[in-house]
Amino acid sequence: MSIVFHPEAQEFHLFNDQVSCVLEVMANGHIGNLYYGKRIADVPSFAYLHEDRDRPLTAINAPWPSAFSLNYLRQDYPAFGTTDYRYPAYKIRRENGSEIMDFKYVSHSISAGKPSMAPLPATYVEHDSAADSLAIELFDAVTATRLILHYTMFADLPVLARHTEFIQEGEESLCLEQAMSLNLDLPDADYEWVHLYGAWARERHIRVSPLAEGLQSIYSMRGTSSAEHNPFIALKRPAADETSGEVIAASLVYSGNFLGQVEVSTDRETRLQLGIHPNNFRWNLAKGNSFVTPEAVLVYSDQGLGGMSHAFHDLWNNYLVRGEYKNTPRPILLNNWEATFMNFTEADILRIASKAAEAGAELFVLDDGWFGKRDDDFAGLGDWKVNLKKLPNGIKGLSEKVEAMGMKFGLWIEPEMVNEDSDLFREHPDYVLTDPERFASPSRHQYILDFSRKEVVDNIHAQVSAVIRDAKISYIKWDMNRYLSEVYSRGTDAGQQGEVLHRYILGVYDLYDRLTTEFPDILFESCSSGGARFDPGLLYYAPQAWCSDDTDAAERMRIQYGTSLVYPNSSIGAHVSAVPNDQVGRTTPLQTRANVAFFGAFGYELDLNHLPADEFAAVKEQIVFYKEWREVCQFGTFHRLINPFGGNDMAWISVAKDQKRAILGYYQILGLPNPRLLRVYPRGLCQDAVYEVRNQASGAVLRLPGSVIEHAGLPIDRDLLRELGGDFASLLLTFTEVD
Ligand code: DGJ
Repeated sequence: MSIVFHPEAQEFHLFNDQVSCVLEVMANGHIGNLYYGKRIADVPSFAYLHEDRDRPLTAINAPWPSAFSLNYLRQDYPAFGTTDYRYPAYKIRRENGSEIMDFKYVSHSISAGKPSMAPLPATYVEHDSAADSLAIELFDAVTATRLILHYTMFADLPVLARHTEFIQEGEESLCLEQAMSLNLDLPDADYEWVHLYGAWARERHIRVSPLAEGLQSIYSMRGTSSAEHNPFIALKRPAADETSGEVIAASLVYSGNFLGQVEVSTDRETRLQLGIHPNNFRWNLAKGNSFVTPEAVLVYSDQGLGGMSHAFHDLWNNYLVRGEYKNTPRPILLNNWEATFMNFTEADILRIASKAAEAGAELFVLDDGWFGKRDDDFAGLGDWKVNLKKLPNGIKGLSEKVEAMGMKFGLWIEPEMVNEDSDLFREHPDYVLTDPERFASPSRHQYILDFSRKEVVDNIHAQVSAVIRDAKISYIKWDMNRYLSEVYSRGTDAGQQGEVLHRYILGVYDLYDRLTTEFPDILFESCSSGGARFDPGLLYYAPQAWCSDDTDAAERMRIQYGTSLVYPNSSIGAHVSAVPNDQVGRTTPLQTRANVAFFGAFGYELDLNHLPADEFAAVKEQIVFYKEWREVCQFGTFHRLINPFGGNDMAWISVAKDQKRAILGYYQILGLPNPRLLRVYPRGLCQDAVYEVRNQASGAVLRLPGSVIEHAGLPIDRDLLRELGGDFASLLLTFTEVD
């Protein structure tokens, strides 16, 4: 058992081989945090780490002469208003307007395994031996409200999962105004904070900043996790790099509004918080009601950002993704979007699909434009019936023809949306999420369906599942192309409007749950104007996500590099598209486009009929090559070697879990005159094993032990890069262990 309770000290020690967390029941009954970090030995008491202090101006939360000021104590789930003046983890308003709460320890239970959080997505274990869980129960006697703090320590990863549950048993109707999933108080502020920021077509760039006294935060108030910020924050020691140094990171398993913040006190202590954004959130805690926060996971690494990423990747791959495609190589697909947009006939689609089959693709995906009156983005959303003018044989007929070509068939949907020009809107205008007395702001000429209402989800479920049932569908791309505005539900009481944003996300999860349960063999890929909803909440249902609408190879280097901080290659949808690139107008070599996209869930997004014969032959070779290497690319241990942010070079390597094979990508942005020498230092190889290192561009082969490769490095052949075109040239090196 990796969770120990010391009754005399009233302390909990949660640990595995890599990480420890020590909690205490403090004298006032609240839960304190005595330690979080690298695994330490268990001792009967860590009480010496409880540091009471009293200072002028602050109040003390105990009778004189105690020095018990909450403002100076590290707490696990702090409240505001009882001497802690920092940001609280939760806020409850009583009927009388008071916001003072006092949850005191009552009991706890320790169990093997991990309880389900349904209907919320969450990490899970298949065997009880994979994790231990602790639930600490607290009670506010004045309001008769219960608060349960949940923790799960995974056995083989430096990961502590957390969530919180509020249950109102008293007569009062309380209003829960804020409920973070995670609060972590740390004794110093000697960190930099790392997060992923961006926008449409430039998602998840990396930002590292020093910590300053006061607040620093990231958030989404857009109704989805967003392209602007990802629900992830890391604190790293300033000297920590990719391979060494301490990193503490948090990620939220949630797809809606969130707030992640780091507060540094003027005593340079740190408070890290992550959870649902309190803006526009109010949950009605009347008698019998409860609220469960989404799950937050805390990762500890003493091997830098690389160690942090490995923990996240293993966590999502082994304990979050479910179904047929868990740890299973993803099909090589061809998607017609950038080839045709919405302008196609069945004959066009079959011509594109047939060429994809000839190239060796395994899955053909029909994107937007197949349903309703969908000839442009003014109409059709909400009417999930095939457009027989475009596709006279229906999705059924088309999917059968594609399958007859030897490929699987996949389909695009955008179930959360409706156009004004649709039968659904004409029949049910009230299904739109908006205040009927105000202007409803369109975005891409579409409106948000009120997924907080079950009847709306039921309607879309009935329509979409009928299409899927009728045809041969192996893959669904679930898109979501606008942020929420005018959030007001016409099916919800005035007193519950503050619940709508969260209930909307629960509706999204509900539809995902119904479809993945009914069609367990289908591979789902989530999408939101590219990668605007790339979060662990959706990975629970959809094992991969379209990473960005920006398919330009040079842009993708940065986007995928940043994304890899938290998400594994298997989850990163990455395609080769035509040049000049539709988003940036840039022309990059076909091989470089593939060399970047290989490190993801790989595919193509163009009409291969338009390629000259030599490029089509190259595509065929790429597909043959990728089939041999995709398992290593998608599920290997991924190491970032050269950071592209601010530099002209980028490199990464993915090493098979058994270390017998590895594949390295090196990329240069611009060709340079008289370039200086450059070596790349691969990582993750077996030191004693001898590898055949093959340069896929030149065919040159070296035979070297892992220790030589890693420590002496591999010179980058700059002359070869010039021969490959200089600008945006790239190299792939494969490593195969030899006897
Ligand atoms: C946005 C997605 O990111 C694209 O890949 C494509 O599916 C379009 N939507 C279709 O409208």
